[in-house]
Amino acid sequence: MAPVGPLPAGACTDMRIIILGSAAGGGFPQWNCACGNCARARAGDPAAKPRTQSSAAVSADGVRWFLLNCSPDVRQQIEQTPALQPRRGVRHSPIAGVVLTNGDVDHVAGLLSLRERQPFVLYATARVLAALAANPIFGVLREDLVERRPLRLDDAVALSGPDGEAGGIDAEAFAVPGKVALYLEDPKAERFGTVAEDTIGLRLSAATGGRSLYYIPGCAALPAELCRKLAGADVVMFDGTTWRDDEMAASGTGEKTAGRMGHMCIAGEGGSLAAFAGLDARRKIYVHLNNTNPALLSDSQERAAVEAAGWEVAEDGMEIVP
Ligand code: MLT
Ligand code: MN
Ligand code: ZN
Repeated sequence: MAPVGPLPAGACTDMRIIILGSAAGGGFPQWNCACGNCARARAGDPAAKPRTQSSAAVSADGVRWFLLNCSPDVRQQIEQTPALQPRRGVRHSPIAGVVLTNGDVDHVAGLLSLRERQPFVLYATARVLAALAANPIFGVLREDLVERRPLRLDDAVALSGPDGEAGGIDAEAFAVPGKVALYLEDPKAERFGTVAEDTIGLRLSAATGGRSLYYIPGCAALPAELCRKLAGADVVMFDGTTWRDDEMAASGTGEKTAGRMGHMCIAGEGGSLAAFAGLDARRKIYVHLNNTNPALLSDSQERAAVEAAGWEVAEDGMEIVP
């Protein structure tokens, strides 16, 4: 493999993250949804900006990029993000690796779009890698081109690309309360057979030190240990799937509660607004928003409430330097 080569003049050396997709599975608007939010997005209402499905890209050198999850919209996300487009020779990608936080469809289906004989490294827990290995369709990512590297919980690794060259980012995976992927649920098992490695959060920092960023697009609760970890964080990107726990039923779009889907809602006693209130994180950004969430609408009371509490709501293309 040809080395990627030295940094181009003017390449940035701070870690930065681009939100590629800020919506939950289904995106905004969702193909089969005509809820009030989706209708406004489809009508081109500027307060209801469309969003693609949950993913982000992080880089410390502006040359090698690592995707955080790989959504079914990855092709569109690459075309909307010049930093992720080929720039050397006829076949090239700045995407050196993909890091998965779970095995959910909205986080892994895009891997199938990255199958064109392009080397990269796939990072996930052994449990999620095993789920992919058990499904022959992911064999389209040939093992000799797409190296699978298991992430151990509570162990920081230096992310590197298929050429072995470090990307300048340390990533630590840690378990968060969640749920096994929908298609792997065991209806007879306690908590559907969920184990710790099914859902992780990521702590990302530049290898040179400096500020850190937490990326947690799916999280069902904030136990004391996780609060301690996030207290005083520079940037936290957190599960903003629903506003209220019974939002699917209330909007007529489904029956499951957010909790049943492995997500904590934003509002109310058990919600993330309350849980984060005393945590003193410098920047808090909701990601993975379901299309039914009223906080998606920039003119809603719910948006005003999250902003009053110091939160931002992610949009596609948003770029953050922690
Ligand atoms: C979730 O975030 O709960 C999942 O993406 C749901 C799904 O697999 O459709
Ligand atoms: Mn999801
Ligand atoms: Zn909708």
